Amino acid sequence: MMEVKISDSIKYIGVDDKDIDLFESQYIVENGIAYNSYLILDEKIAVMDTVDKRKTDEWYKNLETVLDGKTPDYLVISHLEPDHASNIRTLAEKYPEMKLVGNVKTFNMLPQFFDFDLEGRTVTVKEGDTLDLGSHKLTFFMAPMVHWPEVMVSYESTEKVLFSADGFGKFGALDTDEDWACEARRYYFNICGKYGVQVQNLLKKAATLDIKKICPLHGPILTENLEYYINLYDTWSKYEPETDGVFIAYASIHGNTKAAALKLYDILKSKTDKKISIADLSRTDLAEDIEDAFRYSRMIVAAPTYDGGVFPIMNDFLHHLEIKAYKNRKVGIIENGSWAPMAGKVMTSYFEKMKNIEIVPTTVSIRSSMKEDTTALLEQLADEILA
Ligand code: FEO
Repeated sequence: MMEVKISDSIKYIGVDDKDIDLFESQYIVENGIAYNSYLILDEKIAVMDTVDKRKTDEWYKNLETVLDGKTPDYLVISHLEPDHASNIRTLAEKYPEMKLVGNVKTFNMLPQFFDFDLEGRTVTVKEGDTLDLGSHKLTFFMAPMVHWPEVMVSYESTEKVLFSADGFGKFGALDTDEDWACEARRYYFNICGKYGVQVQNLLKKAATLDIKKICPLHGPILTENLEYYINLYDTWSKYEPETDGVFIAYASIHGNTKAAALKLYDILKSKTDKKISIADLSRTDLAEDIEDAFRYSRMIVAAPTYDGGVFPIMNDFLHHLEIKAYKNRKVGIIENGSWAPMAGKVMTSYFEKMKNIEIVPTTVSIRSSMKEDTTALLEQLADEILA
């Protein structure tokens, strides 16, 4: 079992998944993912969530080792998404006396996933309700849409531990030594990004609690400098930029749009000390590109025209930004078109649908390849995006 120390009474029983190809069938996770699960040992014993079915056997081994022959009284269900909930039925069958703790939405949705008799098995909690385990007491706070409607978090008041569900989660197995913010940010914007308002609501509830440790459902247990993590979550969920700089996101078929994007990169570098980042959308991880779009205060998109619209890879990127509620940013556009340029129009229409996006006046329009006047236009674009 992965050695993760929380306290004498709160034990980690989660598992690392390092051979998954794509998390949620879409996210590249080079360092895997952790499905966290916890056990609170007191007069009453509570299991805090189960794990993905990919790791059922390993999880049961961890659970039984820590239980050491004892029987759990409760399974607290924070979230029904199958990466955490896959073993609800098997656990309920294994321990017929164990009660399932969830809210009204949990128990409305649970039968959609599992067909078994819940009669007499459920403890339905609502906002502020407390479950007494002995010296440990769990208080429940609803966190709808962080990341599903039934999500709730639990606060254990004796040891001051917040079980935060997907909140404060991160890609990467627990035995991975990597920067927290990089993979937590990619996780946040791609998985919770649309739900900034709901994350803000949760942060307001958390601000009323004295929290010493945060135990999320993915990623490391946070035990020190909690303000750092909470402040980042506050910035992200307010849709405020984290870094004052420019993210250039380009897609290019034969390299001519790329040449313009690279030229703009050099121009920007020569004009400012702000951070400038550039990505070839065809060859980078889309989730990373989404993350960078949210991270920076400004963005330039550059793409060719394709089938009467914009190059599909750029279309996909902008579609993702739209559904993740990208807003409050300054953007600029470079388009390419050999006979009937349309890319600029399509990219503009995406930004017009988003909230509080300032599109700078100059759109640089290239006909096939950069010409003598292109550099001057790129200079203008650079000045406008930096202004
Ligand atoms: Fe980690 Fe939304 O499940």
